[in-house]
Amino acid sequence: MNQSNPSSLGTAVVTGASSGLGKVYAHRLAARGYDLLLIARRKDRLETITTELQSHFPVQVRVLAVDLAHPDGLSAASEQISADATITMLVNNAGTSSVEPVAQVPVETITNLIALNVTALTVLTKAVLPGFVKRNAGTIINIGSVVGITGFAWVPVYGGTKAYVQNFTQGLKLQLAETEIRVQYVAPAGTVSESWDVMGVPMSSLGEGALMDTEACVDAALKGLDDGEFFTAPSVHDETLVQKYVEASETLLAASQQPEPAPRYTSRS
Ligand SMILES: NC(=O)c1ccc[n+]([C@@H]2O[C@H](COP(=O)([O-])OP(=O)(O)OC[C@H]3O[C@@H](n4cnc5c(N)ncnc54)[C@H](OP(=O)(O)O)[C@@H]3O)[C@@H](O)[C@H]2O)c1
Repeated sequence: MNQSNPSSLGTAVVTGASSGLGKVYAHRLAARGYDLLLIARRKDRLETITTELQSHFPVQVRVLAVDLAHPDGLSAASEQISADATITMLVNNAGTSSVEPVAQVPVETITNLIALNVTALTVLTKAVLPGFVKRNAGTIINIGSVVGITGFAWVPVYGGTKAYVQNFTQGLKLQLAETEIRVQYVAPAGTVSESWDVMGVPMSSLGEGALMDTEACVDAALKGLDDGEFFTAPSVHDETLVQKYVEASETLLAASQQPEPAPRYTSRS
């Protein structure tokens, strides 16, 4: 199946589309009728996925095989995205992790992780925004993680990058509050994907039933998007926990705006 007409929904950019959650986003967005720009490093994977999608859905699929953690790859992606007025959605999904203790992990692993999870996500958001603002339309979905909610001994660097994604996305939402641009923060918990191989952690070591399927995670996240949610945590059953967490963060921030130090820091014991 193939069509030459551009989709009326426009083009969705999905980073990290060669596997895991990104591959499922690509499938689900094609099923919704979006044309796609799929980004990852493994071109062969992206091309196979393109063939699969085009055999099922009447959409146009383009691929861009670049390393988003490298300045050249990120510039190429950013320039292509900035120049493409058909783009109506960005799914910042590409991400990587490491479980090596900070004292032992090579510096390159840390800088690569931050370059992908933080810098690339921010630069690609910056690349779509002028067009979105001009058209007063568009959707940005940033994939974080539940480990961004609070420090986690297993993955302090990865968790720190996801805390950035959460904070950045929250600030972006507030900055765009008067526009029609949609911003969603998605915080998956453990999900079945190649990321565990990349980290060198066998999924079997996590115990049976510990991980969510990628399909279930993406379908839940898209349901959250459809419902107008900002902070979507697919595995959190008690949604009041998310509300309380956001409210407590806002209360703490508001309470911190004081010109004088708190008495506990000024009284002598
Ligand atoms: N799996 C989980 O338990 C879990 C939990 C919470 C959050 N998340 C988040 O979900 C997102 C997707 O992860 P996943 O679990 O689906 O993992 P995955 O299957 O390993 O997918 C990662 C994707 O990112 C791409 N990628 C990695 N490094 C890249 C680079 N330097 N440049 C461009 N693309 C790159 C990979 O493609 P190439 O290798 O072809 O480049 C792949 O398509 C990530 O942001 C992750 O942090 C995952």
